[in-house]
Amino acid sequence: MLLITRKTPPAVATRAAREHEVRQLDLEGVFDPAVLLENLTGVNAILCTPADKFDAVLIAQLPASIKVIATYSVGQEHIDLAAAAARGIEICNTPDVLNTATAELALTLMLMAARRAGEGERLLRAGKWPGISPTFHLGHGVAGKVLGIFGMGRIGRELAGMARGLGMAIHYRNRNRLPPELELGAHYHEDDASFLGAIDFLSINAPGGADTMYWLNAGRIGMLKPGAVVVNTGRGSAVDDDALIAALRSGHVLAAGLDVYNNEPNLHPGYLELENAVLLPHIGSATVEARDAMGFLALDGIKRVLRG
Ligand code: DGY
Repeated sequence: MLLITRKTPPAVATRAAREHEVRQLDLEGVFDPAVLLENLTGVNAILCTPADKFDAVLIAQLPASIKVIATYSVGQEHIDLAAAAARGIEICNTPDVLNTATAELALTLMLMAARRAGEGERLLRAGKWPGISPTFHLGHGVAGKVLGIFGMGRIGRELAGMARGLGMAIHYRNRNRLPPELELGAHYHEDDASFLGAIDFLSINAPGGADTMYWLNAGRIGMLKPGAVVVNTGRGSAVDDDALIAALRSGHVLAAGLDVYNNEPNLHPGYLELENAVLLPHIGSATVEARDAMGFLALDGIKRVLRG
Protein backbone atom coordinates (compact mmCIF):
# COMPACT_ATOMS: atom_id res chain seq x y z
CA MET A 1 0.00 0.00 0.00
CA LEU A 2 1.17 3.56 -0.82
CA LEU A 3 0.62 6.26 1.80
CA ILE A 4 0.47 9.81 0.39
CA THR A 5 0.89 12.50 3.04
CA ARG A 6 -0.61 15.51 1.21
CA LYS A 7 -3.05 16.17 -1.61
CA THR A 8 -1.53 15.62 -5.06
CA PRO A 9 -2.67 16.98 -8.47
CA PRO A 10 -5.57 14.98 -10.00
CA ALA A 11 -3.46 13.31 -12.71
CA VAL A 12 -0.97 12.09 -10.11
CA ALA A 13 -3.69 10.89 -7.74
CA THR A 14 -5.34 9.00 -10.62
CA ARG A 15 -2.13 7.26 -11.62
CA ALA A 16 -1.28 6.44 -7.98
CA ALA A 17 -4.70 4.83 -7.55
CA ARG A 18 -4.21 2.82 -10.75
CA GLU A 19 -0.88 1.44 -9.57
CA HIS A 20 -1.41 1.03 -5.83
CA GLU A 21 -3.85 0.67 -3.05
CA VAL A 22 -3.58 4.24 -1.71
CA ARG A 23 -3.98 5.67 1.77
CA GLN A 24 -4.36 9.42 1.29
CA LEU A 25 -3.74 11.50 4.44
CA ASP A 26 -4.41 15.03 3.10
CA LEU A 27 -2.23 16.56 5.85
CA GLU A 28 -2.14 20.34 6.03
CA GLY A 29 0.22 22.69 7.83
CA VAL A 30 2.79 21.53 10.35
CA PHE A 31 3.70 17.85 10.06
CA ASP A 32 2.82 15.66 13.02
CA PRO A 33 4.84 12.39 12.96
CA ALA A 34 2.32 10.77 15.34
CA VAL A 35 -0.42 11.06 12.68
CA LEU A 36 1.82 9.39 10.13
CA LEU A 37 2.80 6.59 12.49
CA GLU A 38 -0.86 5.83 13.26
CA ASN A 39 -1.52 5.23 9.58
CA LEU A 40 1.28 2.93 8.49
CA THR A 41 -0.26 -0.51 8.93
CA GLY A 42 0.17 -2.42 5.66
CA VAL A 43 2.09 0.45 4.01
CA ASN A 44 5.25 -0.32 2.02
CA ALA A 45 5.79 3.04 0.27
CA ILE A 46 5.38 6.68 1.35
CA LEU A 47 5.02 9.71 -0.90
CA CYS A 48 5.90 12.75 1.23
CA THR A 49 6.72 16.43 0.70
CA PRO A 50 9.42 18.81 1.95
CA ALA A 51 6.99 19.86 4.71
CA ASP A 52 7.14 16.35 6.22
CA LYS A 53 10.24 15.93 8.34
CA PHE A 54 11.59 12.38 8.42
CA ASP A 55 14.28 12.69 11.08
CA ALA A 56 16.22 9.81 12.61
CA VAL A 57 13.71 9.45 15.46
CA LEU A 58 10.77 9.03 13.07
CA ILE A 59 12.68 6.77 10.69
CA ALA A 60 13.62 4.48 13.61
CA GLN A 61 9.89 4.08 14.37
CA LEU A 62 8.77 3.22 10.83
CA PRO A 63 7.51 -0.34 10.44
CA ALA A 64 9.73 -2.87 8.67
CA SER A 65 7.20 -2.98 5.81
CA ILE A 66 8.37 0.48 4.54
CA LYS A 67 10.70 -0.07 1.57
CA VAL A 68 10.73 3.36 -0.06
CA ILE A 69 10.08 7.01 0.73
CA ALA A 70 9.62 9.24 -2.32
CA THR A 71 9.66 12.98 -1.78
CA TYR A 72 7.73 15.43 -3.95
CA SER A 73 10.85 17.58 -4.31
CA VAL A 74 14.43 17.70 -5.45
CA GLY A 75 15.54 18.74 -1.97
CA GLN A 76 15.99 15.93 0.54
CA GLU A 77 17.11 17.93 3.59
CA HIS A 78 13.90 16.98 5.40
CA ILE A 79 14.89 13.31 5.33
CA ASP A 80 17.72 11.84 7.41
CA LEU A 81 19.30 9.92 4.55
CA ALA A 82 21.80 8.07 6.75
CA ALA A 83 19.03 6.87 9.09
CA ALA A 84 16.97 5.71 6.09
CA ALA A 85 19.96 3.88 4.57
CA ALA A 86 20.66 2.19 7.90
CA ARG A 87 17.10 0.81 7.83
CA GLY A 88 17.40 -0.24 4.19
CA ILE A 89 14.75 2.28 3.10
CA GLU A 90 15.30 3.71 -0.40
CA ILE A 91 14.76 7.41 -1.04
CA CYS A 92 13.54 8.84 -4.37
CA ASN A 93 13.25 12.49 -5.34
CA THR A 94 12.12 14.48 -8.39
CA PRO A 95 15.04 16.23 -10.10
CA ASP A 96 15.10 17.85 -13.57
CA VAL A 97 11.38 18.07 -14.30
CA LEU A 98 11.07 21.30 -12.29
CA ASN A 99 14.10 23.09 -13.72
CA THR A 100 12.15 25.34 -16.09
CA ALA A 101 9.45 26.19 -13.57
CA THR A 102 11.98 27.13 -10.89
CA ALA A 103 14.17 29.13 -13.28
CA GLU A 104 11.07 30.98 -14.48
CA LEU A 105 10.25 31.90 -10.92
CA ALA A 106 13.81 33.12 -10.25
CA LEU A 107 13.47 35.31 -13.34
CA THR A 108 10.08 36.55 -12.15
CA LEU A 109 11.54 37.52 -8.78
CA MET A 110 14.55 39.20 -10.35
CA LEU A 111 12.38 41.36 -12.60
CA MET A 112 9.83 42.09 -9.87
CA ALA A 113 12.56 43.13 -7.43
CA ALA A 114 14.38 45.28 -10.00
CA ARG A 115 11.19 46.99 -11.20
CA ARG A 116 9.63 47.29 -7.72
CA ALA A 117 6.60 45.39 -8.97
CA GLY A 118 5.27 44.26 -5.59
CA GLU A 119 5.56 47.73 -4.14
CA GLY A 120 3.83 49.24 -7.19
CA GLU A 121 0.93 46.83 -7.01
CA ARG A 122 0.45 47.45 -3.28
CA LEU A 123 0.46 51.19 -3.90
CA LEU A 124 -2.12 50.96 -6.69
CA ARG A 125 -4.44 48.68 -4.72
CA ALA A 126 -4.24 51.07 -1.77
CA GLY A 127 -5.52 53.88 -4.03
CA LYS A 128 -2.21 55.76 -3.70
CA TRP A 129 -1.27 56.02 -7.40
CA PRO A 130 -0.74 59.72 -8.13
CA GLY A 131 -0.69 59.12 -11.93
CA ILE A 132 2.20 58.74 -14.35
CA SER A 133 5.16 61.14 -14.28
CA PRO A 134 8.79 60.96 -15.45
CA THR A 135 10.11 60.25 -11.98
CA PHE A 136 7.34 58.05 -10.62
CA HIS A 137 8.32 54.63 -9.24
CA LEU A 138 11.65 54.23 -11.02
CA GLY A 139 13.24 50.81 -10.95
CA HIS A 140 16.26 49.32 -12.68
CA GLY A 141 16.62 47.44 -15.95
CA VAL A 142 18.36 44.10 -16.27
CA ALA A 143 19.67 44.33 -19.86
CA GLY A 144 23.44 44.83 -19.93
CA LYS A 145 23.76 43.90 -16.24
CA VAL A 146 25.66 40.99 -14.73
CA LEU A 147 23.72 38.11 -13.22
CA GLY A 148 25.72 36.06 -10.71
CA ILE A 149 24.45 32.54 -10.21
CA PHE A 150 25.47 30.76 -7.02
CA GLY A 151 24.96 27.08 -7.85
CA MET A 152 25.23 26.46 -11.58
CA GLY A 153 23.39 23.14 -11.58
CA ARG A 154 20.45 22.29 -13.80
CA ILE A 155 18.21 25.10 -12.54
CA GLY A 156 21.03 27.65 -12.50
CA ARG A 157 21.91 26.82 -16.11
CA GLU A 158 18.27 27.08 -17.18
CA LEU A 159 18.10 30.52 -15.55
CA ALA A 160 21.34 31.52 -17.28
CA GLY A 161 19.77 30.70 -20.66
CA MET A 162 16.71 32.83 -19.92
CA ALA A 163 18.80 35.74 -18.61
CA ARG A 164 21.04 35.68 -21.70
CA GLY A 165 17.88 36.25 -23.69
CA LEU A 166 17.33 39.43 -21.67
CA GLY A 167 20.81 40.69 -22.57
CA MET A 168 22.47 39.86 -19.24
CA ALA A 169 26.04 38.62 -18.83
CA ILE A 170 26.37 35.48 -16.71
CA HIS A 171 28.94 34.93 -13.96
CA TYR A 172 28.84 31.94 -11.64
CA ARG A 173 30.18 30.27 -8.56
CA ASN A 174 29.98 26.51 -8.27
CA ARG A 175 31.72 23.63 -6.52
CA ASN A 176 33.51 22.95 -9.82
CA ARG A 177 34.00 24.77 -13.07
CA LEU A 178 31.66 23.49 -15.77
CA PRO A 179 32.86 22.16 -19.14
CA PRO A 180 32.58 24.68 -22.01
CA GLU A 181 29.46 23.04 -23.46
CA LEU A 182 27.59 23.69 -20.19
CA GLU A 183 29.28 26.97 -19.31
CA LEU A 184 28.29 28.51 -22.66
CA GLY A 185 30.56 31.51 -22.12
CA ALA A 186 29.56 32.17 -18.50
CA HIS A 187 32.39 33.56 -16.37
CA TYR A 188 33.50 31.20 -13.57
CA HIS A 189 34.85 32.64 -10.30
CA GLU A 190 37.15 30.68 -8.03
CA ASP A 191 36.35 32.72 -4.95
CA ASP A 192 33.41 34.50 -3.40
CA ALA A 193 35.06 37.93 -3.22
CA SER A 194 35.73 38.18 -6.96
CA PHE A 195 32.29 36.70 -7.75
CA LEU A 196 30.25 38.94 -5.44
CA GLY A 197 32.20 42.06 -6.39
CA ALA A 198 31.55 41.53 -10.11
CA ILE A 199 27.77 41.12 -10.21
CA ASP A 200 24.67 43.32 -10.19
CA PHE A 201 22.16 40.55 -9.47
CA LEU A 202 22.76 37.48 -7.29
CA SER A 203 20.59 34.42 -7.75
CA ILE A 204 20.97 31.62 -5.22
CA ASN A 205 20.26 28.30 -6.93
CA ALA A 206 22.34 26.06 -4.69
CA PRO A 207 20.89 23.20 -2.67
CA GLY A 208 20.43 23.48 1.09
CA GLY A 209 22.37 21.51 3.68
CA ALA A 210 25.54 22.00 5.69
CA ASP A 211 27.70 23.12 2.75
CA THR A 212 25.60 26.20 1.99
CA MET A 213 24.27 27.01 5.48
CA TYR A 214 24.10 30.81 5.92
CA TRP A 215 26.37 31.26 2.91
CA LEU A 216 24.98 34.74 2.28
CA ASN A 217 26.05 36.24 5.60
CA ALA A 218 27.03 39.79 6.57
CA GLY A 219 30.61 39.27 5.34
CA ARG A 220 29.58 38.13 1.87
CA ILE A 221 26.82 40.74 1.62
CA GLY A 222 29.55 43.32 2.27
CA MET A 223 31.38 41.98 -0.81
CA LEU A 224 28.40 42.77 -3.06
CA LYS A 225 28.39 46.05 -4.96
CA PRO A 226 26.15 48.62 -3.27
CA GLY A 227 22.74 48.42 -4.95
CA ALA A 228 22.92 44.73 -5.88
CA VAL A 229 19.70 42.70 -6.03
CA VAL A 230 19.44 39.31 -4.30
CA VAL A 231 17.15 36.49 -5.43
CA ASN A 232 16.74 33.16 -3.65
CA THR A 233 14.81 30.20 -5.06
CA GLY A 234 17.25 27.59 -3.67
CA ARG A 235 16.89 27.14 0.07
CA GLY A 236 16.25 29.66 2.85
CA SER A 237 19.05 28.11 4.89
CA ALA A 238 21.61 29.63 2.47
CA VAL A 239 20.81 33.11 3.82
CA ASP A 240 21.47 34.75 7.18
CA ASP A 241 18.13 36.58 7.50
CA ASP A 242 19.28 39.20 10.00
CA ALA A 243 22.18 40.16 7.73
CA LEU A 244 20.04 40.38 4.59
CA ILE A 245 17.31 42.35 6.36
CA ALA A 246 19.91 44.82 7.69
CA ALA A 247 21.32 45.25 4.16
CA LEU A 248 17.84 45.77 2.68
CA ARG A 249 17.13 48.38 5.36
CA SER A 250 20.39 50.23 4.74
CA GLY A 251 19.97 50.03 0.95
CA HIS A 252 23.31 48.24 0.47
CA VAL A 253 21.13 45.53 -1.08
CA LEU A 254 18.70 47.45 -3.27
CA ALA A 255 16.00 44.78 -3.31
CA ALA A 256 15.44 41.08 -2.77
CA GLY A 257 13.16 38.51 -4.37
CA LEU A 258 12.66 35.50 -2.12
CA ASP A 259 10.72 32.27 -2.54
CA VAL A 260 12.39 30.19 0.19
CA TYR A 261 13.03 30.92 3.86
CA ASN A 262 14.48 29.62 7.07
CA ASN A 263 11.80 28.03 9.22
CA GLU A 264 9.07 27.92 6.54
CA PRO A 265 6.25 28.83 6.67
CA ASN A 266 7.16 31.13 9.59
CA LEU A 267 9.60 33.42 7.83
CA HIS A 268 11.57 36.10 9.67
CA PRO A 269 9.00 38.87 10.40
CA GLY A 270 11.56 41.51 9.47
CA TYR A 271 10.99 40.75 5.78
CA LEU A 272 7.30 41.62 6.00
CA GLU A 273 8.04 45.26 6.82
CA LEU A 274 10.32 45.78 3.82
CA GLU A 275 8.88 47.41 0.69
CA ASN A 276 12.01 46.34 -1.20
CA ALA A 277 11.49 42.63 -0.57
CA VAL A 278 9.33 40.62 -3.00
CA LEU A 279 8.11 37.62 -1.04
CA LEU A 280 6.59 34.49 -2.58
CA PRO A 281 5.44 31.37 -0.69
CA HIS A 282 7.87 28.66 -1.97
CA ILE A 283 6.18 28.22 -5.34
CA GLY A 284 9.30 27.64 -7.48
CA SER A 285 8.01 24.34 -8.87
CA ALA A 286 4.32 25.16 -8.50
CA THR A 287 3.19 24.90 -12.10
CA VAL A 288 0.64 22.36 -13.28
CA GLU A 289 3.24 20.97 -15.68
CA ALA A 290 6.04 20.62 -13.13
CA ARG A 291 3.90 19.28 -10.31
CA ASP A 292 2.37 16.59 -12.57
CA ALA A 293 5.82 15.60 -13.81
CA MET A 294 7.22 15.54 -10.27
CA GLY A 295 4.40 13.28 -9.10
CA PHE A 296 4.91 10.92 -12.03
CA LEU A 297 8.65 10.77 -11.38
CA ALA A 298 8.05 9.99 -7.71
CA LEU A 299 5.65 7.19 -8.72
CA ASP A 300 8.24 5.85 -11.18
CA GLY A 301 10.78 5.70 -8.34
CA ILE A 302 8.35 3.90 -6.03
CA LYS A 303 7.51 1.38 -8.74
CA ARG A 304 11.21 0.75 -9.44
CA VAL A 305 11.99 0.08 -5.77
CA LEU A 306 8.93 -2.08 -5.10
CA ARG A 307 9.64 -4.18 -8.18
CA GLY A 308 13.16 -4.71 -6.88
C1 DGY B 1 12.18 21.16 -4.31
O1 DGY B 1 11.86 20.38 -5.21
O2 DGY B 1 13.11 20.90 -3.54
C2 DGY B 1 11.38 22.40 -4.16
O3 DGY B 1 11.97 23.31 -3.32
C3 DGY B 1 9.98 22.08 -3.64
O4 DGY B 1 9.13 22.03 -4.70
